[in-house]
Amino acid sequence: MYNDNPTLEGVEKKIDEAKQGEVFYQTEEDKGGKKFYIESYGCQMNFSDSEIVASILGEAGFSPTRNMEASDLILINTCSIREKAELTVRKRLRIFDKVKKQRPGMLVGVLGCMAERLKKKFLDEEKLVDIVVGPDAYRDLPALVAGAEDGNKGVNVFLSREETYADISPMRLDSNGVSAFISIMRGCDNMCSFCVVPYTRGRERSRNAFTIVAEATNLVERGYKEVTLLGQNVDSFKWENPETKEKVTFAQLLVMVAEVSPELRVRFSTSHPKDITDEVLYAIRDFENICNYIHLPVQSGNSRILKKMNRTYDRPWYEKKVDRIYEIIPDCAISSDIITGFCSETEEEHKDSLSIINYAKYSMSYMFFYSERPGTLAERKYEDDIPLEVKKRRLTEIIELQNDISRIENAKDVGKTFKVLIEGDSKKSDLDFKGRNSQNKMIIFPKKEGLKAGDYTYVKVNESNSATLKGEIV
Ligand code: 5AD
Ligand code: SF4
Repeated sequence: MYNDNPTLEGVEKKIDEAKQGEVFYQTEEDKGGKKFYIESYGCQMNFSDSEIVASILGEAGFSPTRNMEASDLILINTCSIREKAELTVRKRLRIFDKVKKQRPGMLVGVLGCMAERLKKKFLDEEKLVDIVVGPDAYRDLPALVAGAEDGNKGVNVFLSREETYADISPMRLDSNGVSAFISIMRGCDNMCSFCVVPYTRGRERSRNAFTIVAEATNLVERGYKEVTLLGQNVDSFKWENPETKEKVTFAQLLVMVAEVSPELRVRFSTSHPKDITDEVLYAIRDFENICNYIHLPVQSGNSRILKKMNRTYDRPWYEKKVDRIYEIIPDCAISSDIITGFCSETEEEHKDSLSIINYAKYSMSYMFFYSERPGTLAERKYEDDIPLEVKKRRLTEIIELQNDISRIENAKDVGKTFKVLIEGDSKKSDLDFKGRNSQNKMIIFPKKEGLKAGDYTYVKVNESNSATLKGEIV
């Protein structure tokens, strides 16, 4: 979420904070044996994948450490979505290389979306890396590490049509013990023309619904209070029980997870506007614990650009979807992803992206300028013809407007009371708690004796700005 300082620099920093490069660790527990250190970049899916990787390595006798210098294996889970993400990873690899030179025998591995694209470059030209593993090959990691220990550089970037890691119980890294991600599907079949994901993560496939429910149940038993069901396009989840041939849709899955416990909040991300159904909206309406919040990326507010982006909806269709959401769930919050300066976008078309923010009243958006990605449809078919300064200026305008809308929408919450799930101490003061309401808005409020992270409480909002609400327990 972006707030008070809408300069581009500020924005990029916030993108960094929100989406990039956070390092994951688990509680330090020295079990002896080999240690791995893992950093994750990019989307929540990558963070969730790192927990699968940690589990696979845990089974192979490795334990996690937060101390890079003391590790035997440094892993970096990479993102290819924009050029900047890739540049950050390259910088990190140079730093890892220095650490490695001090510690003979240490291995460095590249995981995730950059693996497929850059395997040759990493291994041959740059010689910075010992292991390269794509998103569908994590089970092979222990074998690749063993090979690399014997001096054989290891690569597996095979993209699978089946792998969902359904049976793997993720090792929760750096968890607050309250919220967890559950990966419900992998890959993407949508082929948005700007997007590299279908090439880096492969075809869409849904995970066994029973293993998803089992994972949620296990989390509840361990005291977790919130799960986010993750996928590139969760609304197209479909899984068929191989025995009964019964099909499970996303709406049904949501209900199955919501029924695990009324104390468990259920969130999900990301929804493609073309696939979210009324059944999903009814499930949100009917189940108190399915949160009233939908991340519904629009990408552009202009129909011609949307067509060029291959989003398969146009502006009027998207507006109707937004209307339908507010009709069925009047207090739903909607957020978005927006790209500025896509190929051939005119000033008028850019204005349509501004006006869709106004129309949809997004609670927040992730906003980016277009970054051409190798191999995508857009790269092959269209010229990346909007100058960088124009892309950035348009982005600044989008951010400023989104901040205004967030500020106005948040101000409407002043005086209201929300049920809040306490996530822990606020960043600024350990006298305050932070927590979210159903709409995914962060609320800061003074602590009260007897309450702790993972508890629900009711908070009345007294103050707001574009990023947070402040209130008190009632
Ligand atoms: N350039 C800029 N932003 C992009 N996204 C995806 N591909 C690109 C690109 N080439 C954005 C989209 C997507 C979000 C995860 O990243 O808005 O929804
Ligand atoms: Fe990329 Fe579009 Fe798939 Fe999202 S839905 S991952 S933007 S191709």
